[in-house]
Amino acid sequence: MTNSFESDLENSTSDASLSHSRALSEKIEAGIAKDPSEFRVLTGDRPTGNLHIGHYFGSLRNRVRLQRAGVETWLVIADFQVITDRDGVGPIRERVYSLLADYLAVGIDPEKAVIFPHSQVEGLNQLLLPFLSLVTDAELRRNPTVKAELDATGNRPMSGLLLTYPVHQAADILFCKANLVPVGKDQLPHLEQARVIADRFDSRYGRPAGAEKPIFPRPQALLSEAETVLGLDGTKMSKSKGNTIELGMTADQTAKLVKKAVTDSERTITYDPAGRPEVANLLLLAALCQDRDPSTIADEIGNGGAGTLKKVVTESLNELLAPIRERRAELAANEDYLREVLQRGIERANEQAEATQAEVREAMNMVY
Ligand code: TRP
Repeated sequence: MTNSFESDLENSTSDASLSHSRALSEKIEAGIAKDPSEFRVLTGDRPTGNLHIGHYFGSLRNRVRLQRAGVETWLVIADFQVITDRDGVGPIRERVYSLLADYLAVGIDPEKAVIFPHSQVEGLNQLLLPFLSLVTDAELRRNPTVKAELDATGNRPMSGLLLTYPVHQAADILFCKANLVPVGKDQLPHLEQARVIADRFDSRYGRPAGAEKPIFPRPQALLSEAETVLGLDGTKMSKSKGNTIELGMTADQTAKLVKKAVTDSERTITYDPAGRPEVANLLLLAALCQDRDPSTIADEIGNGGAGTLKKVVTESLNELLAPIRERRAELAANEDYLREVLQRGIERANEQAEATQAEVREAMNMVY
């Protein structure tokens, strides 16, 4: 193939690229502080299960902060992405509503945000066709996140959708011309792919007559500086391992799960992430909930041992989550309201998608 297909997607999680993304994220934060109206955020989640505190500290909190800073926020509920690595959609309807309730409960403002499942936006999905013409199977196969996701499925063969979903994700981002995508570092290869597609579209198919700017802006990742919290057993947090606290759990369920958390046999509590990772992780959880320093909390507990540590963690979590859980329960009981929010988001997303499609058809001379 030609040079226009050369890119180094496989390097996008390298150390150099990561520190570049971090430096860029700092610059973007300064830009937001100056003029939030320059930015449109799009980010989202796959509706595969209930959101938990890992999502809260890793991304949800940051989205709420950006929205409150005045950045326009679009949230995609990536329902088609559910079937990239499994056979069925599962209880998809319940999960979409539950995800929406989680978003609103943590503080996303439904009056300002555009929240939509991408299956409901035809013009978004239709971008997949021209976008697929701009990528090669070789570069998709090199995508490290796709590779990791394939590995995680065991011996499942690669489906066409798993291979190409980064292109569909580019459509999620580009259809609404988002220029800012707050994500974790596992999503950096997808962002690089979206930029490559935006550039190639412009150089290959051009622009509507007289347009000064490319149709699609180059979207930048905004890496959240949040530390990764591990599960209650000190391993990677995941719903399937039962080592996390879901936002919708009760205070009692939380207490029970924290009681089972892994600690060590040393009585004095110290914050030592390298030497005592499980204890340090619990301290970090309490610290994030209280917005304080984990070492200070360790000093306060001192000789109180694991029992006191767990009590502190439980109380911190339950205090942080109480208002979120209350709002979540109210919302879950009011499906009419949730449906209305979703319909509004779907309508707005479709307006935008149709406007973008009109430009795309003009650029591609497909106007008949
Ligand atoms: N792939 C993302 C994840 O698993 C979810 C997602 C779908 C997304 N579309 C997106 C994230 C667009 C950012 C932008 O977390």
